[in-house]
Amino acid sequence: MIEIDQVTKSFKDHVAVNNLTLRIPENEYVALLGPNGAGKTTLVEMIEGLQAPDRGTIRIDGKTWTTHQRTLRKIIGLSLQETRFVDKLTVLETLDLFGSFFALPRSRSMQVLQMINLEEKKSSYTVNLSGGQRQKLALGIALLNEPRLLLLDEPTTGLDPNARREIWDILTGLKQKGETTLILTTHYMEEAQYLCDRVVVLDQGKILADGTLGELLNTFSAGELIEFQTLRRVPETLPEGLPGFMELHWTVPGTSGTVTVQSITDALPVLLSELSRHGNEVLSLQCRKKTLEDLFVAMTGRRLNE
Ligand SMILES: Nc1ncnc2c1ncn2[C@@H]1O[C@H](COP(=O)(O)OP(=O)(O)O)[C@@H](O)[C@H]1O
Ligand SMILES: [Mg+2]
Repeated sequence: MIEIDQVTKSFKDHVAVNNLTLRIPENEYVALLGPNGAGKTTLVEMIEGLQAPDRGTIRIDGKTWTTHQRTLRKIIGLSLQETRFVDKLTVLETLDLFGSFFALPRSRSMQVLQMINLEEKKSSYTVNLSGGQRQKLALGIALLNEPRLLLLDEPTTGLDPNARREIWDILTGLKQKGETTLILTTHYMEEAQYLCDRVVVLDQGKILADGTLGELLNTFSAGELIEFQTLRRVPETLPEGLPGFMELHWTVPGTSGTVTVQSITDALPVLLSELSRHGNEVLSLQCRKKTLEDLFVAMTGRRLNE
C-alpha cells in the first residue's frame, strides 16, 4: 500500500526525517511510535501529500502525489495532530460539509455519526464538544469517504482512559472488516501494543526498530522482571543464583532492586523460598513482562514520554 524510499525532510539545518525507507502492506495496522520531535508528524504529512520530501520518493498504491493527486485524495482519510472545526456548525453539519467535498449523500453522515457513537451530540455546536468528542468527530471526518488508507496523527493524546478506549473500539471494529490500512502515530506504547499488528519505533527521524510487538521484545529485550524490596539484606549470592538469571539492578544495594530472569514462573518460587529460609521479609514485590517502554529505554537511554 505504501512504499517510502530514502525519504529525507529538513527544516533549516534540522533533519526531521532522515533517509527513511519503509513498506506497509495493504490492510496492516501500523503504529509509528516515538517521543515528541521524533519526526512522526512530518512523516505522515509527507504520506498525506501535505509536505513534500526534500529527497526520496513516496508511493501510495503505486501512485505519487505529483501525478495522482485526485485519485489519492479519494482513497485516503486523515486526521491531523490538531483539528480546528467551525465553531458555529453542529456535529452533523460538520460531517455534511466534509461529506460534500466527496459528493457523499447526507445519509453517510448519519452512518458515520453512529460509527463514532456521537448521535446524541449531532445538534451540538462543535465548540461545545469535550476533548474526546472532538477526537471522535475528527475520526468520523476521516472515515466519511470509506478510505482504504487511514492516517491518524496522535488520535488519543491528552484523552482520558474512557475516551481513549472508545476510539480504540472504533478502530478495532474497522479492523475486523479488513478493508483498511491504518497508520497511527502515538507516544503511548499501550496504544501501539493494543491496536497495531506492527510497531515502527522512530527517534530523531530514523527507524530504531520495526516488527510485531513479540518480535521487537524478543530481539531487543528478552527476559521478565521481578522488582523486589526486602526488610533485611538478601544473601549476596541470591539474585544471581536464580534459575534463568539474566541481569540485576539494585535501587538500594542489598534490599531493593530489579532482577531480570528468563521466566518469572521458574524464578519466583525460588526467590521467595530462599528469602523465607533466611528469615527475610518481603516488603514489596512486582512481577512483569518487558514492555515497549523498556525496549525504548534500552535502545535510547530515554523514556518515551520524557
Ligand atoms: N514546520 C517546521 N519548522 C521547523 N521545524 C519543524 C517543523 N515541523 C517539524 N519541525 C521539527 O522537526 C522535528 C520533528 O517534528 P515532528 O515531525 O513534528 O515530530 P513528532 O510528530 O514526532 O513530535 C522536530 O524537531 C520539530 O521541531
Ligand atoms: Mg507530531
